[in-house]
Amino acid sequence: MDRIRICGGKTLKGQIKISGAKNSSLPLMAATLLTDQTVGLENVPALADITSMSELLVQLGTIIDSDLTQNKIQFKTPTLTSFIAPYDIVRKMRASILVLGPLLARYGQAKVSLPGGCAIGTRPVDVHLNGLRDLGAEIDLCEGYIIAKAPKGLVGTDVTMPLVSVTATENLLMAATLAKGQTRLINAAREPEITDLANCLISMGAKIEGAGTDTITIQGVPALHGTTYSVVPDRIETGTFAIAAAITGGDIILKDTSLELIPSFSSHLQKAGTILEQVGSDLHVRAPNGVHGVDVMTEPFPGFATDLQAQMMALMTVCQGASMITETIFENRFMHVPELCRMGANITVHGSSALIRGVSTLRGAPVMATDLRASVSLVLAGLAAEGETIISRVYHLDRGYERIEEKLNACGASIERLAD
Ligand code: EPZ
Repeated sequence: MDRIRICGGKTLKGQIKISGAKNSSLPLMAATLLTDQTVGLENVPALADITSMSELLVQLGTIIDSDLTQNKIQFKTPTLTSFIAPYDIVRKMRASILVLGPLLARYGQAKVSLPGGCAIGTRPVDVHLNGLRDLGAEIDLCEGYIIAKAPKGLVGTDVTMPLVSVTATENLLMAATLAKGQTRLINAAREPEITDLANCLISMGAKIEGAGTDTITIQGVPALHGTTYSVVPDRIETGTFAIAAAITGGDIILKDTSLELIPSFSSHLQKAGTILEQVGSDLHVRAPNGVHGVDVMTEPFPGFATDLQAQMMALMTVCQGASMITETIFENRFMHVPELCRMGANITVHGSSALIRGVSTLRGAPVMATDLRASVSLVLAGLAAEGETIISRVYHLDRGYERIEEKLNACGASIERLAD
């Protein structure tokens, strides 16, 4: 398994092009199942998860013409050759559950492996399944698979989700586009990726209002047509590289992204002493005077993104003062803590909160990546640390960050991939 070696202590200066959002590309790819016409996606990041989703769609019958060097992929599903999403693909990537809604809506049946838990939590899918049952689907669980049927098609209705779920909102939104009549998704997630999916579906002929609010109204239509659509910039990558500037006292221009994608994160970073300025379509980030501690609580959008919690913690390890970070979305999302402590961080965990007392400097050490966002927090800590940090299990990184060492080295970092 590849490892990454970082020689820390460099101040990063330069420009980084922000890629298209992984967590928008994945539902958009699933949405291509909803039509027999060609859908072209642009600004798609070249990531392991995108490859996994492509493999799944090909198994279902989608014809794919992919040119990820240009960040473009074309999809066409004239007909299904299978309606099964197998365990060996779903276990690698939970987002495979996103084919469930489109398969049911267009073909009236689906057999999708239960995703199971992952490093950060049990992550059940009950909100997805109960919402599809509300829309008239028959859902059974058998031998680790979700067996879903809607032979007479789905029927629109009001669906109240008991908790805010991003992919459940996406699954139900896609299913409702071809259901008979009106569907209202109540207590819907409001993430920019939901709005991006709705905008793409509208460009395919869907009738959707209210995306980005907690109530989304969909009028079902008989069929959707093809489109060409460009993926929204990745707000988590934006926040991650903003912290790369802050943690090294650097000055980085993040190309083709927006402060509007990270409202709560950016206000916390500004309170900590970082300067963020939107300059046209670019975001200018610098931290000439270091940072001081701020308290953080993760919440659904527009609150502080849970996917930026580990990265913010890395920054707070070298703040002036102290910080309390509370994780409210997932039950096990502090696995980066022991690894950061190996680098000299002073962190104590109390249940779902971590108290971080800033230290003057971190020291490089061998550390292990445990999940996608924890792994990038170790990269950020390695950038700031004195000496050499070796991060193992970096396949986690490759799932969510396109060419990360290339992007950071272009700003003066010293990162090398060590192929085992
Ligand atoms: C999406 O996961 C993202 N993944 C996650 O990003 C992100 O952390 C998460 O939303 C929260 O923002 C994609 O978009 C592909 P949820 P999702 O359903 O939809 C519980 C990354 O690093 N829940 O919003 O799976 C769940 O256990 C990944 O890119 C149920 O109980 O998250 C969690 O505690 C990690 N039942 C909470 O709700 C359900 O049916 C929010 O989860 C669904 C969710």
